[in-house]
Amino acid sequence: MSSASAPGKIILFGEHAVVYARPALAVPVLQVHADVTVDVRTDKTDLMGKDWRSLTLIEAPDIGIFTTLDSLLAHQSTHPLATVIVNVFQFLGIDPPPLKIRVTSSIPVASGLGSGAAVSVALIRALAAAVSDSLPDEQVNTLAYEIEKLHHGTPSGIDNTVITYARPVYFVRGRPIETFSVHTPFTVVIGNTGVAAPTKESVGDVRKLWETDHTRWEQVFDRVGEIVQQARAAIEKGETSALGPLMDANHAILQRLTVSSPELDHLVLTAKAAGAEGAKLSGGGRGGNMIALVQPQRAEAVAAALRSAGALSAITTLVQ
Ligand code: MEV
Repeated sequence: MSSASAPGKIILFGEHAVVYARPALAVPVLQVHADVTVDVRTDKTDLMGKDWRSLTLIEAPDIGIFTTLDSLLAHQSTHPLATVIVNVFQFLGIDPPPLKIRVTSSIPVASGLGSGAAVSVALIRALAAAVSDSLPDEQVNTLAYEIEKLHHGTPSGIDNTVITYARPVYFVRGRPIETFSVHTPFTVVIGNTGVAAPTKESVGDVRKLWETDHTRWEQVFDRVGEIVQQARAAIEKGETSALGPLMDANHAILQRLTVSSPELDHLVLTAKAAGAEGAKLSGGGRGGNMIALVQPQRAEAVAAALRSAGALSAITTLVQ
């Protein structure tokens, strides 16, 4: 048996502008993760003319899937799980033996925490390890990015990168991975609106906006880039108090980009009223999660206020 796990992620600063080659900062969230186990089916060693796909079992209880790979492909040829499995073996250039694959995840789907990328990364690692050798992170990341492209159209690659390396990442599209160091750990509360919002849609809508006036929106993206640089410098110097106003400024720009929502704005205002130093949506927006920077002793009060204001969950995480 082989198994692999991959964490969730939050984008601290710079989502959406990162698609347009501006930098962004993202960190892993270890409290939530996708987990995959892969067994080679020893009861089915003789394929007897059958394709491995028809004997490969997939269990994903969180999304109600108990089926063969063949049936999943017949039902939905672009199903994310099926796509990853087929692509991994194409990449490795092998027809595997029949497998039993089990996927579970505590990362809410379509919530901005990188659930899709985390499942891809854990699956890629576990599948490769089950039938050949473990893949180096660089290859896992490349493959996860190819899969993100199939599902999201024009992803920047930030989600698969931070999740593969599970370290704080200063990300610029197309550039080699660069990590950053956190001088003084700081606390963030993550509030989930409970509204599922596919990243593909918000990314597509920002593109339509950008197409209406390139000059104007490029300037807006430049401003996001400056916020990201200032945030990185503050985090590396331990000047955490500078981050709250930067989060507020980034959220105001995300509102202009039309990717906030009444639910997100409500949770952002609630967090601030409960003592957060700054707050913003995180990820694709329109729903999903927001994050709030808090003093550790305020974390529980802010999390409780978010839950009372309708958040489906509020997770406290230490960025370090
Ligand atoms: C999604 O987590 C982040 C976005 O910037 C999209 C991307 O970078 O691919 C909204």
